Amino acid sequence: MDHFLYRDGQLGSENGPVSLSAQDVGTPVYIYSKATLLTHYQRIADAFAPLNPLLCYSIKSCGNVNLVRLLVNAGSGMDVTSGGELYRALKAGCDPQKIFFAGVGKTDKEITEALTASRGGEFQHSAFSIQNSSGIGWFNIESEEEFWNLDKIAGKLGKTPNAALRVNPDIENKSQTHAKTFTGKKETKFGVDIDRAAAFYRAAAKAQHARLNALHLHIGSPIKITAPYVDAITKGLALIDELAADGILINTLDIGGGFAAFYEGTEAPSAADYAAAIVPLLQSRAAAGLKIILEPGRSISANAGILLSTVQYTKQGGAKKFIIADAAMNDLIRPTLYESYHFIWPAAAATPPNRTSTLRTDNDEKVDVVGPICESGDYLAKDRYLPPTHRGDLLAIFSAGAYGMAMASNYNARPRAAEVLVDGDSYTLIRKRETYEDLLRGE
Ligand SMILES: Cc1ncc(COP(=O)(O)O)c(C=O)c1O
Repeated sequence: MDHFLYRDGQLGSENGPVSLSAQDVGTPVYIYSKATLLTHYQRIADAFAPLNPLLCYSIKSCGNVNLVRLLVNAGSGMDVTSGGELYRALKAGCDPQKIFFAGVGKTDKEITEALTASRGGEFQHSAFSIQNSSGIGWFNIESEEEFWNLDKIAGKLGKTPNAALRVNPDIENKSQTHAKTFTGKKETKFGVDIDRAAAFYRAAAKAQHARLNALHLHIGSPIKITAPYVDAITKGLALIDELAADGILINTLDIGGGFAAFYEGTEAPSAADYAAAIVPLLQSRAAAGLKIILEPGRSISANAGILLSTVQYTKQGGAKKFIIADAAMNDLIRPTLYESYHFIWPAAAATPPNRTSTLRTDNDEKVDVVGPICESGDYLAKDRYLPPTHRGDLLAIFSAGAYGMAMASNYNARPRAAEVLVDGDSYTLIRKRETYEDLLRGE
């Protein structure tokens, strides 16, 4: 699952105790394990190898350029959703042709940047460099207006971009994915309904510059069972066949992201389980030339990071005991935003028997782990059983690599946490802790 393991009563990250980076860098701090990140990437790459797919890591899940560079070097493309994410991907050395740009509200500026992106060259501005820039691999199209806007801007720049229509396959939320992160139904702001997709493709076939030759499906995240993928892909393939009968060729199918990560230990299908359900649906199509793209985010990054925090105070509130940590909802918003579960355990402790929400151990105490922010929604865990915990203890919040730092904010004027990357027995500061000066920059 990850390389955050207890040895001799101390939590380690790969070969060193996490307390070392906490001593040097302070808390709260995100600590990432290089080996965990790359192992999770490689498991997906290996499991789906029969499709020879392009993996476009979903940079929104965890976008530190130093981590992204590791994945680029391992062969990954990038799924980006803003000009800023595109910039990160290019800065990390990603080949623009391996970049897939999703998002319902791309601005003209972002579209221009993506059309003129070139390897290592970021965004091009002179007429010569615009002409010679490759631009990104695919634009995800989420509305008619967006498609025709892309066509217009591409025409002005002399470009012929590939585009994928994001289609909502209108499937049931069988996997109990949180309502805020399930996108497979018709009634979503993303993409277009499957009922009107064919008409959309037919109209787009008349475009002079943009080529709507790909189909994109992303049904939500995390999807903890494989059945919704099977439903969505089956509907997507039927659409591709219907279009082929009309002479409209779809040469690329992007099946999105959403593979689950391990928050409790064993609740997610493995990469091999997802592949066992999906590869048979697509193998003959891939062999016949259909390019397959996947956009995994959390299944690569979630288990690769922990958030380390120091207990500031403990106190009793009625029947309840509160552990007040120095990490808060501004550092990790998932518990309060999505009611997400993150296993929490002291960094100096015996190995926890497992990481489930029902874990009980001798002498444990029922506590809420909260942060110092002025919101009652500022919590990291509620009604959780922890070993006796005291002021000054280090607490590890596990499986925090995805949508942790990426969603961090400065709420309550809190400088954002530092980030550290562990590789074997050495570690590097890959993002400085913000300062008070950083908070006021630009004001
Ligand atoms: C279009 C798209 N692709 C991929 C992802 C990545 O999802 P996950 O991190 O669950 O794999 C998301 C997440 O929101 C998304 O919106």
